[in-house]
Parts: sequence; C-alpha cells; structure tokens
Amino acid sequence: MSVLLSTRELALHVGGLDILTDVSLELHAGETLGLIGPNGAGKTTLFNLISGLATPSSGQVFLEGKDLRSLGPIERAKQGMVRSFQTSRIFPELTLLQNLALAVRIKKDCAYHWWGRKAARAASQKATEELLEHSALAGRGHVLARSLSYGEQRILDLLIALAQQPRVLLLDEPTAGLSESESREVMALVHAMRGQCAVLLISHDIDIVFQECDRIAVLSSGTLLICDTPDAVRQHKGARQAYLGELALETA
Ligand SMILES: Nc1ncnc2c1ncn2[C@@H]1O[C@H](COP(=O)(O)OP(=O)(O)OP(=O)(O)O)[C@@H](O)[C@H]1O
Ligand SMILES: [Mg+2]
Repeated sequence: MSVLLSTRELALHVGGLDILTDVSLELHAGETLGLIGPNGAGKTTLFNLISGLATPSSGQVFLEGKDLRSLGPIERAKQGMVRSFQTSRIFPELTLLQNLALAVRIKKDCAYHWWGRKAARAASQKATEELLEHSALAGRGHVLARSLSYGEQRILDLLIALAQQPRVLLLDEPTAGLSESESREVMALVHAMRGQCAVLLISHDIDIVFQECDRIAVLSSGTLLICDTPDAVRQHKGARQAYLGELALETA
C-alpha cells in the first residue's frame, strides 16, 4: 500500500516540556489508522502539527512525499487534509445545508468561473444534499444548526468534513459524548469512507478502534510506543501497560 501521509521524527518541546518526541508515522492510502493513548499523551498535539495548526520544534510532515513545512492549515486543507476537532465547529446560525455548502465552497476556494458557476453550484448542492439524505439528519437540511442536539452537531461536523471530499481525514474523538446510536451513526459514516480516503482516528473507545482500524498507533507521554495491527498492539507489553490495561487482557 502506498504511503499517503507521513511524519518524520516530529517533535514539540515547549518550555522544557517534551510534548512530542520524534514521532514517525505512516498512513497508507485507503487505511484507517487508530491513534490511542492516555489523556495528555499528545494525540491532539500530533493532529495540530500534522494539520499545520502548530509548528513542530523539529521533524517533518509529508503528503504523498511532499514536505508540507511551508503550508499553513488552509493550504493543507486544500491539499485534501481535512480535520474534525474534539468539539464541533459548525455555524449555528446557518442551516445544515448552508453549513455543508460552505464547506464545499471553502474547499473549492470559491474558484467558480463565471461561465461554469451555475453548473458547479448545482453539482455541489446535489452532492451535499445526497450526503445529508444518507445520514441520520436526513430531511432536516433547512433547520438551523443551533437547533441540533450535541450528538447531532457532532454528526453534522463529520458531514462537513466529508463534504470536502478529503484525501486524508483526521478525526479527533468523533464519538466523544455521544449516545450509543449516535456513535454508531458516526462510525457508519466513517466506515463508508473506507477506500475513498485515509483516516487517522483518535478515540478513547477501544472497542471502536479495535473494530474499525487496520492498524493502531499508541502514544504515551509524547512517544510512539507501537504502530501495528490490532493483534500486535494487544500483545505489546508497553501498550498494555500504558493504556490498554485490563481491557486488553479481557479482549486478548
Ligand atoms: N503549546 C503547548 N504548550 C504547553 N503545553 C502544551 C501545548 N500543547 C500541548 N500541551 C500539553 O501537551 C500534553 C498533550 O496534550 P494533548 O491535548 O495533545 O493530549 P491528548 O492526547 O490529545 O489528550 P486527551 O486524550 O485528553 O485529548 C498536555 O499535557 C497539554 O497540556
Ligand atoms: Mg486530545
């Protein structure tokens, strides 16, 4: 499988603290890679460095072999790197369809030429409507985003990410705080992206990670302990000690 995204010895040191130390990871085209570790392990920080929201102290991020050092978060998003956050980032005063349409427009950089504007708008509107209609929010395109429950807002957040047709999808705890049925809906959407884009998934829900991910990376205190298949991670003593604990023993 070809490497789509990679980090090479990525590190972040802040005021004498080693937040991340020499993290080298590879995300293959089409795979779902889990990223787990205890609270404060550095998972979100790694996403910040990959997506360009923070600058590493050293090390590099590559997308299809291209060093992204000179690109900020917006440029990286335009390259197909799309990210969801631990908390939803939606426009509460816009309708669901408007939220989705905006995401598509931003991705396309509003670069509709005047001679193609109408057709391009119609095509992207159709795509966003289809996305919505295949989700748990079907039929609610014209309601304001602020009227959604917390769980529904998380689903919209993910739909916004998908509407941008990512090549790499970075998901930071997409099911945190959701009911079981909302979690299932979110994971069904993620699952449906299999093969279309590569996913890097942070989650504290071990069942989801072990079910959904082709490989799993374990971070502990800013250091990558292992990045391997679910079975290999279950057997890895350091990973079990750092995070999995009894859960690993139960499911092994
Ligand atoms: N710019 C910064 N300055 C100082 N400390 C930072 C900075 N960025 C991150 N940290 C610290 O680095 C550690 C890792 O934080 P991070 O949010 O990446 O952890 P996490 O693995 O995502 O945790 P959680 O599972 O709770 O979301 C934390 O102790 C955090 O306070
Ligand atoms: Mg985090």
